[in-house]
Amino acid sequence: MTTRELQDKILELKKKNDFCVLAHAYQGQEICDIADFVGDSYGLSVNATKTSAKNIVMAGVRFMAETAKLLNPDKNVYLANSMAGCPMADQIDKETVEKLKEENPGYTAVCYINTTSDTKRAVDVVVTSSSAVKIIKNIKNDKILFIPDCNLGRWVEKECPEKKFVFFKGGCPTHMRITEEEVKACKAAHPDAEFLVHPEALPPVSAMADYVGSTTGIMKYAKESPKKEFIIGTEQSIVEHLQYECPDKKFYLVSKGLVCHNMKVTTLMDVYNAISGSGELITLPPETMLEAKKPIDEMISLGG
Ligand code: 13P
Ligand code: SF4
Repeated sequence: MTTRELQDKILELKKKNDFCVLAHAYQGQEICDIADFVGDSYGLSVNATKTSAKNIVMAGVRFMAETAKLLNPDKNVYLANSMAGCPMADQIDKETVEKLKEENPGYTAVCYINTTSDTKRAVDVVVTSSSAVKIIKNIKNDKILFIPDCNLGRWVEKECPEKKFVFFKGGCPTHMRITEEEVKACKAAHPDAEFLVHPEALPPVSAMADYVGSTTGIMKYAKESPKKEFIIGTEQSIVEHLQYECPDKKFYLVSKGLVCHNMKVTTLMDVYNAISGSGELITLPPETMLEAKKPIDEMISLGG
């Protein structure tokens, strides 16, 4: 079977079995082509609440499927590939958050969406990379306990100088690999290019960027910019999508091998299998459904 034939079968089955496919922008082009929505973590959460389909397949990582389930308790949510986790989400658990809260009384506990649903039970608000600055500015308290990504946290801190932050030392193993030397070398090779980076990168790397933003933010910026060349500091699929959508522009990945292998375990065949009924059905304990939804609802309410 060719890729095109498999995509046609998926499109047909999606309608027949009443499925909606949500794909994170780090998925390959062949998956994005058959998805009902492609975007960043915030967009996936908001679009999970908008679909009328009875069944949702998440072509992304586990915390994204769990978020979709929390927002759609009456729908069947499937994770296309059970192996798709996010190492950052496993860096902190609920007990550690509770301990940090005890050590930092009076702080509002804010967690990045890249956390397990059990961890989210212990926090006040969830944020994503595209919504963090707006949400934290909208929080009345000026003391913020930010978990788990201290690199994203440091970038938010720069944008919100009026707030006082406490961080946990977590981070994304993919984005933390980008070095200042690689950025310098890439800029020297492409002097007319703008450097666009994800806020999960290390602070000195983000400080070298012309634009810092979420996966969708980076794509929007590059599409709308009058510039013709861009150095991209996020997962390599973003370069692939941008090159596909903007054939008149040039995109360079800042460092070789900038791949999230967790995102990349999901294949088009996994999506087909999920729509055929053999994906992993996400189930969460009743207390998690109740308690982890509150900070996500708060995110959507404060994020607009
Ligand atoms: P976005 O919110 O930009 O999609 O980021 C999610 C993620 O996991 C990036 O590594
Ligand atoms: Fe997690 Fe990093 Fe992969 Fe995003 S890129 S899913 S934060 S490991």
